[in-house]
Amino acid sequence: MSRTNGQTGAPQGTTCILVADDDEGTRQLLASILGREGYQLVQAQDGEEALAAAYRHRPDLILTDIQMPRVSGIELTRRLRSDASMATVPIILVSGLHETTDKVAGLDAGATDFVTKPFDRAELWARVRAALRTRAAFQRLESVQSILAALANAVEAKDPSTQYHCNRMAALALGLARSTGLGADALEAVGYGAVLHDVGKIGVPEHVLLKPGPLDEEDWAHMREHPGIGATIVEPLQLGKLVAPIVRSHHERWDGAGYPDGLRGDQIPVGARIVAVVDAYDAITQERPYRKARSSDDAREEIIAGAGSQFDSELARAFVDSLDARPSPAWPDDDAFVRGLTVEVS
Ligand SMILES: [Fe+2]
Repeated sequence: MSRTNGQTGAPQGTTCILVADDDEGTRQLLASILGREGYQLVQAQDGEEALAAAYRHRPDLILTDIQMPRVSGIELTRRLRSDASMATVPIILVSGLHETTDKVAGLDAGATDFVTKPFDRAELWARVRAALRTRAAFQRLESVQSILAALANAVEAKDPSTQYHCNRMAALALGLARSTGLGADALEAVGYGAVLHDVGKIGVPEHVLLKPGPLDEEDWAHMREHPGIGATIVEPLQLGKLVAPIVRSHHERWDGAGYPDGLRGDQIPVGARIVAVVDAYDAITQERPYRKARSSDDAREEIIAGAGSQFDSELARAFVDSLDARPSPAWPDDDAFVRGLTVEVS
């Protein structure tokens, strides 16, 4: 494996491209074409070396031959795509003119694009630029996730007794959402909804949030405003269209006695019904300023007792069953999502 900086001695660029090919001539040709633009280049001689290089250098783009010793370009793609941290790195497969079957397998494995040997420089450039634009767009999305995580953590900072509440909530809510068969967009909305459900507590006075005892009527009036405030905070975000209804409705009850809108049954967005069940479980099992934490069994009993009145019965039962059936978080993607939200608290 070697790390070069192109052939013109250009200063190290911030964009790193990994070139994997067992043919040194092809590697050198690609390095020569790409290096002229000052990209930081990493070269690998086969798929296994490329896999190690991908984790060591975290490239912005991977250009890989399909036929390579030890690990093929398609297998390399498959392995990288199985790791959520590599899900958005563009992978361009370099194929021979007639390798149609390989192209289908490459797309199935998660390749972003193809270039064909012998190289047409203009086409190679166009595909590399397009892939890097996609990469940049994904990175902007990732920074949006960081902002949302910062917002959620701002709430936790205001109310330290709920520290890591958001991360726990996301893990549990995603597990429950998956067990109900929700699609990808709805799952993402549930993940963010779980993280941000209490973001409106930013607008609740601290003496209410930190009160070491039951809330009086005036305190409750403040507290009941937090779902609406939270929805207003997340609405302007692109993701907000999906997440705001979850934030707004997470204190609605199945029997219509919740707040802020008094929705009942199926009127309540399913993501909000999921967050309501998980929020109750987390609240019961964690210590609060005015009471001790209770056991997971107590929480299960309370959730089942509230099925059909406070909670959606099907979701309440599915959640209690899922606590026995799986570790938390249940899925690698969920684990990555939750880890992405973790902010060190000093
Ligand atoms: Fe809440």
